[in-house]
Amino acid sequence: MSQKKRILSGMRPTGPLHLGNYHGALVNWVKMQDQYDCFFFIADWHALTSDYENTALISENVIQMMIDWLSVGLSPEKNTLFVQSRIKEHAELFLLLSMITPVPWLERNPTYKDQIVQLNHKDLSTFGFLGYPVLQAADIIMYMADAVPVGIDQVPHVEITREIARRFNYLYGAIFPEPESVLTETPKILGLDRRKMSKSYDNAIYLSDDPDIVRSKVLQMITDPQRARKSDPGNPEVCNVYEFHKLYSDKEMVLKIDNECRTANIGCVECKKIMAESLIQMLEPIHQKRLYYEERPELVHEVISKGCEKARNIAQKTMKAVRSAIKI
Ligand code: TRP
Ligand code: SF4
Repeated sequence: MSQKKRILSGMRPTGPLHLGNYHGALVNWVKMQDQYDCFFFIADWHALTSDYENTALISENVIQMMIDWLSVGLSPEKNTLFVQSRIKEHAELFLLLSMITPVPWLERNPTYKDQIVQLNHKDLSTFGFLGYPVLQAADIIMYMADAVPVGIDQVPHVEITREIARRFNYLYGAIFPEPESVLTETPKILGLDRRKMSKSYDNAIYLSDDPDIVRSKVLQMITDPQRARKSDPGNPEVCNVYEFHKLYSDKEMVLKIDNECRTANIGCVECKKIMAESLIQMLEPIHQKRLYYEERPELVHEVISKGCEKARNIAQKTMKAVRSAIKI
């Protein structure tokens, strides 16, 4: 058996993955796959908490998300890659944890309060939406994860998970470790309009965008807002396009852009065109892999089935221990 630390994280299958998701999670996951015993899963039941009225796309999004994961280099051999709804034990543990979770813990969850405001066009006054962190706690402790890599918005959920695990251990005997959250460091890349990159803002560049789409999206990007004309010197430090250059262009090019922008020797259109080509180059191998899996859907299904089987084995053991602890 490996003594590697176990980490677990998940994503809701709400649509194709964009560069924000890539740098905010996937790059980090790919790095961790060699150091840790990693469990990554697609949280399709969690997608229902906000999209229960429109479920038609969820199962296709699950497949597409797995293709995105495989395309960026998450390995099905090194990791356990699975789909939440295929492991029914998550539902059982969720139910049992819901019995011991005080409602005020959920009501004061900052992510919950924030989402209710942000998604005010949806009716989120449901039991399931309030209970979102309880399901997430079940996901995490089911596999006895030591650590959960997440973005800052998910830290409260991991905190609630720790509290639920502690309460379970107190009531029924110590079974679960209390998982820690590991904040993912992310470069500050923004969407085309300089807001946070997000599908719902329609400002994202997707991993699956083909070169022409990338070119046209990059041309729409807002640059240094103070720079009105090509003859005005610009400030790369406040420019989102420059942030992208730092990620995708080589060092010399970054220096050159920095210099020529400040001295008004390069215009934003030209600068963007150069960046778009660097980005397209980064995406090239990802697209190659995506094509490979798109042409072989049976492989993707096999990855999912095998990952789910590995996950299910562990989940079944956990539930045995849980049932015997609760004596039911
Ligand atoms: N709530 C997470 C998100 O929206 C997804 C998620 C569900 C998750 N279960 C999890 C993340 C367990 C980490 C661990 O990003
Ligand atoms: Fe940004 Fe490039 Fe324009 Fe400078 S030249 S403001 S770095 S897009």
